[in-house]
Amino acid sequence: MAPGSIDAAMLRALELGRTVLGRTSPNPPVGAVVLDGDGQIVGEGATQPTGGPHAEIVALRAAGDRSRSATMVSTLEPCSHTGRTGPCTAALIEAGVARVVYAVSDPTPEAGGGALALRAAGIDVQPDRYADEAAAGALRAWLFAVGVGRPFVTWKYAATLDGRVAAADGSSRWITGEHARADVHRLRGESDAVLVGSGTVVADDPHLTVRSVNGELAGHQPLRVVLDRRGRTPATARIRDGAAPTLVLDSCDPGQALKVLYGRGVRSVLLEGGPTLAGAFVETGLVDRVVGYLAPALLGAGPAALGSAGMTTITDALLLHVEDVARVGADVRITAVPRRKD
Ligand SMILES: NC(=O)c1ccc[n+]([C@@H]2O[C@H](COP(=O)([O-])OP(=O)(O)OC[C@H]3O[C@@H](n4cnc5c(N)ncnc54)[C@H](OP(=O)(O)O)[C@@H]3O)[C@@H](O)[C@H]2O)c1
Repeated sequence: MAPGSIDAAMLRALELGRTVLGRTSPNPPVGAVVLDGDGQIVGEGATQPTGGPHAEIVALRAAGDRSRSATMVSTLEPCSHTGRTGPCTAALIEAGVARVVYAVSDPTPEAGGGALALRAAGIDVQPDRYADEAAAGALRAWLFAVGVGRPFVTWKYAATLDGRVAAADGSSRWITGEHARADVHRLRGESDAVLVGSGTVVADDPHLTVRSVNGELAGHQPLRVVLDRRGRTPATARIRDGAAPTLVLDSCDPGQALKVLYGRGVRSVLLEGGPTLAGAFVETGLVDRVVGYLAPALLGAGPAALGSAGMTTITDALLLHVEDVARVGADVRITAVPRRKD
């Protein structure tokens, strides 16, 4: 096989995994590629929506007879359990694959152990290829969620350069430009659920769906969730239409809400609420990533992006590590994660 073929195949598999982000939970978004003896791609695939085949099965089917003596390159260790579908390890053994190269080991007790089963069948197994890239890519939220037992939470907000998310009169629409708004729709599409508090529903009546720039609804929609302790979500609220599934939760603190969502198969949440709910999530240590869109505009008054989060002195500040800074149209997007305390 030509040098570099497996690297190129893994990069392709990582890309394939990203194409199904937000559509596979509770299964992981995996990409897989089958290479023949000359290093040519003869099949590829990504995990299909829940209940559908895993990436390896899609790739094997595409390769057909050419899977015999081939190399399977996958972003995750092939599963060895029977869930809604059969074990991938059995399909790989039956197809006569000679070698399996994967990035990340499956940490779940139910599906892990695939490498052992494959080796026992005489297949050459090579783990940990591009493991860091895979763990930081499409598998990030899923790996976090199955490790911790709750969904990965990204808090997203749009603010003026002086940190206001709404004007003093309460108006808040279109703080950022169309490119930033399109980017938010991408983030939504990659999430299993979008979450707001009743305050945002009452103030803005958002639809919280994934739409294209010309307003068309995407084929797949995340679960819309409202935390509403006092039943303030109107019966006529736009989030109650049939465009996407919706869940209105009462009497839930952030931790309980995430537990409920995890139980429903949600592995990633986009928190799009206002300052009050964002404060409650930050205070309880339940924000795993912050995506702030900053518009080159000043308001001077109006609510700040983050409400009370239980911090009263400078040493209480939640310190973040900036992962990325990007210009999105006329606006700036900053992505940051809490610094590890070690
Ligand atoms: N620019 C942006 O990115 C952006 C995004 C969203 C909102 N906004 C703006 O923010 C303003 C609304 O702010 P907001 O803070 O009222 O919105 P919010 O944070 O979405 O909703 C707050 C409400 O959520 C409910 N809630 C349910 N469970 C909660 C819990 N565990 N902890 C705290 N609250 C909980 C509370 O009402 P109950 O007690 O009735 O349940 C609370 O008043 C509007 O002006 C809106 O336009 C801006």
